[in-house]
Amino acid sequence: MDKIAIIVAAGSGTRMGSDIPKQFLPLKGKAVILHTIEAFIKAVPGIQIRLVLPPSMVAYGQSLIEGMPYQGQVTLINGGNSRFSSVASGLASVPENSLVAIHDGVRCLITPALINRCFEAAQAFGSAIPVTPVTDSLREVSVEGNHPTDAVSKALDRVNIRLVQTPQTFKTSLIQAAFSQQEQPGFTDEASVAEAAGKQVHLVEGDPENIKITRPVDLILAAAILDQRTA
Ligand code: C5P
Repeated sequence: MDKIAIIVAAGSGTRMGSDIPKQFLPLKGKAVILHTIEAFIKAVPGIQIRLVLPPSMVAYGQSLIEGMPYQGQVTLINGGNSRFSSVASGLASVPENSLVAIHDGVRCLITPALINRCFEAAQAFGSAIPVTPVTDSLREVSVEGNHPTDAVSKALDRVNIRLVQTPQTFKTSLIQAAFSQQEQPGFTDEASVAEAAGKQVHLVEGDPENIKITRPVDLILAAAILDQRTA
């Protein structure tokens, strides 16, 4: 089956507090999003990539990719107002009889090994969702966004909890069918969309280094991890 990646990077990234969206910030001299693209090219040299960007940033995205050896493999797509609509736009152009890896553009430390693990499991099971165990203790609070000292809380057992990463990888026909339903507020990822369509998702082992660049400290961590990989 052909392998395709949809890299979603159409968010505004407000938690970073920077002038440009976090997916375009420099990480060791190269835009975050280029690190992400290059990991997929390394994992699957002939892969086709759909890069979903904010409509206002598509021209800028094009200029970043211009002249890169993989330029011909990357198609730019206008994103929507939610992650669901951005992914739906990407899926609209993916051929049905293929495998599709849907990945957060800001998870730029993704390794070729994890990408290939997800494609192999999706081929065998129809879906592959990378997860990692929780290492912190967990506490459920009564009111979202309350000041910590005001909240009524209780301990949660972390043994049965997993953190969910991307690339969330599927047989394309399965995930396209799931995306034909209406968007719901609880859809924070593609696994939740597949599940709401009645599909059980298959979990694979994620990678603790596959962090999502969200806050300024994440860029510092990412640079340190990249230094350690090349040392
Ligand atoms: O906001 P959050 O960090 O959960 O977003 C996860 C991913 O979804 C990011 O890569 C972001 O750029 C992408 N996204 C998108 N379109 C949106 C909102 C988020 O492609 N409208």
